[in-house]
Amino acid sequence: MENFQYYAPTKVVFGKGTENKAGQLVKEQNCRKVLIHYGSGSVKRSGLLDRIFASLDEEGISYISLGGVVPNPRLSLVYEGIDLCRREGVDFILAVGGGSVIDSAKAIGYGVENEGDVWDFYERKRQACGCLPIGVVLTIAAAGSEMSDSSVITNENGWLKRGYNSSYCRPKFAVMNPELTMTLPKYQTASGCVDIMMHTMERYFNHCDNMELTDGISEHLLRTVMKNAKILMDEPQCYKARAEVMWAGSLSHNGLMACGNDGGDWACHQLEHELGGMFDVAHGAGLAAVWGSWARYVCDALPDRFEQFAVNVMGVENGDDKNAVIQKGIEAMENFFRQIEMPTDLGGLNIEVSEDQMKELALKCSHFGKRTIGCVKKLNQEDIYRIYQKAAD
Ligand code: NZQ
Ligand code: ZN
Repeated sequence: MENFQYYAPTKVVFGKGTENKAGQLVKEQNCRKVLIHYGSGSVKRSGLLDRIFASLDEEGISYISLGGVVPNPRLSLVYEGIDLCRREGVDFILAVGGGSVIDSAKAIGYGVENEGDVWDFYERKRQACGCLPIGVVLTIAAAGSEMSDSSVITNENGWLKRGYNSSYCRPKFAVMNPELTMTLPKYQTASGCVDIMMHTMERYFNHCDNMELTDGISEHLLRTVMKNAKILMDEPQCYKARAEVMWAGSLSHNGLMACGNDGGDWACHQLEHELGGMFDVAHGAGLAAVWGSWARYVCDALPDRFEQFAVNVMGVENGDDKNAVIQKGIEAMENFFRQIEMPTDLGGLNIEVSEDQMKELALKCSHFGKRTIGCVKKLNQEDIYRIYQKAAD
């Protein structure tokens, strides 16, 4: 078991009708002016945005709004948001949406609180010294950004998708009403479920002597998400399943699943980030498309863990042939992805990736040959290329 710090300062307000408390929650933050940040229209169509405006009006809070965030949120809108916040004296950002909106809000928050180009943080050129406080009204269970220390932004100049982590951006509060996720297209619900699972799986696969408690919570979380994801494919209006998945999304990525391990592998996330940057795929779907290829490429470096995963998570019967158990576990996970209509290869993402593009993905993912990714097996540019190639077969 490794030493660890667990810091999850976000106040969670969970359940039906909780979005109506947004005004009250913002008021507790003692801010002068709020930026309400949102996406490409779903919150307008559902009437949620109007309810949020009304809740802030009721508390007499002064606010402006900026919409237009797209999945794989763009740096250009972040720059626009930074200028707007500076001009208007904004000192609090309320993100109404999913991971993309929250991440864009976090990036704007960094930009306002720090001099210079905010992209420097995402390029790891320097560290942020602060971030405007962020609040969240969550509309999709997926990225876990509502409690995480992470923000992922895509720079249109070169189509580079990069993440930056610091505790400054952890939201002050997160309003989570599972009912708000009932308007999601099936594909987004499924993609979100994969992302939630991957945030736990990325941490689960590591070389440490892990904590039994963390393993147990992780394995149960994975089984819970799989069970409820399948329910939601047939019954998208099932509140109970929506609620289980939504809470799993936050716990999966707020640091709890890393307690006692070394922080995890994260190779699949790095592999997906390049796909998201270049081909604009949904994050969870991109993860599902590369996971099987990654797992087969690295499993011989961590056989005991892959065996434990197969038995405890995927319900494979234990046997003498460890490798057979491991392979069955990987296949079972891919079968689950298929059951919820998620891809298990690049073809399933409906994108054509040429040989040259695979090389470009590997080059970018290895930061132009300057880094390896993952800890189960450290993967260099050549390994990364091979995994993309396997995923394209
Ligand atoms: O933009 P709108 O119109 O709102 O539509 C969105 C978007 O098209 C739609 N949507 C959201 N809530 C809805 C809804 N449609 C109908 N009803 C609702 N209630 O869903 C689409 C996807 O939204 P997005 O915010 O992109 O989804 P998600 O939460 O999966 O976020 C993905 C982004 O988060 C990053 C990903 O890389 C990706 O860029 N991640 C952020 C992390 C973090 N900050 O901690 C960790 C993750 O690993 C991930 O990398
Ligand atoms: Zn993710």
